[in-house]
Amino acid sequence: MKMNPYKMELENISKTYPSGDGTLVQALGPIDLRIPNHRFVSIVGPSGCGKSTLFNIISGLLDNTEGAIYVNGSRVDGLTGITGYMLQKDLLLPWRTILDNVILGLEIQGTSKREAKAKALPLLHKYGLKGFEDHYPAQLSGGMRQRAALLRTILYDRDVILLDEPFGALDAQTRAMMQEWLLDLWDDFQKTILFVTHDMEEAIYLSDEVYIMTSRPGTIKRHLLIDLPRPRKPQIITSPEFTQLKEEALRTLSEETLKAYQQEAAG
Ligand SMILES: Nc1ncnc2c1ncn2[C@@H]1O[C@H](COP(=O)(O)OP(=O)(O)O)[C@@H](O)[C@H]1O
Ligand SMILES: [Mg+2]
Repeated sequence: MKMNPYKMELENISKTYPSGDGTLVQALGPIDLRIPNHRFVSIVGPSGCGKSTLFNIISGLLDNTEGAIYVNGSRVDGLTGITGYMLQKDLLLPWRTILDNVILGLEIQGTSKREAKAKALPLLHKYGLKGFEDHYPAQLSGGMRQRAALLRTILYDRDVILLDEPFGALDAQTRAMMQEWLLDLWDDFQKTILFVTHDMEEAIYLSDEVYIMTSRPGTIKRHLLIDLPRPRKPQIITSPEFTQLKEEALRTLSEETLKAYQQEAAG
């Protein structure tokens, strides 16, 4: 047990995979991160740098090769069920209604269906899915499906929530709506959120802190504190402070994206 002010700490996290010829390939790290309670923290990095791998490790779905993870001062690496995790390809179960999908995490935890539904219904109503409880995922728009997946993650009720490119596949207008909605949700539920996105504007707009990763093996290249007033209003993206942060961040990211392309071209 460590006494400290952080909600979550990653110490020296790395991951290697065996490659085809038997040698080890470093896919990620080493990564050190310290996340205070109730922060909105974004992670941005070139495609393939290991963001999803990092989330898989934090969630306990994938073992790290080295390092340690602490939540509330207790060591949790290798353990599942500590964080709420919305996977990059989060599939709602097509044969379950929206309500049944949203209560899935609670059911897995052993909550009775009746109790889980009583908990979930007011949330569905408050967060824009009223009237769609008994619909199936295929009957909903992409934005609504993502909302349902997010509510499922929130209802699982962990302090730390991992969201892997939750809005990546949405059109710009839906995405903007979802950002407002997520900020409301974050405020209402007082979660600590780790958010992966490839959209720097989205990262800065939503976050208290943004980490920019290097190309593979992903390490932390830059840590930006986003000292913009809250509640955030969409017009802030045109302010000089925002523009300057974004330009600086994009310059850093584009160096790494270029390296990632070169790596890919080299095989
Ligand atoms: N099971 C695996 N075996 C071998 N390599 C993997 C495996 N999973 C991911 N990788 C590699 O690890 C790197 C990081 O992948 P990923 O975490 O999905 O990146 P990102 O989410 O940042 O786009 C990629 O180069 C990918 O090819
Ligand atoms: Mg990914």
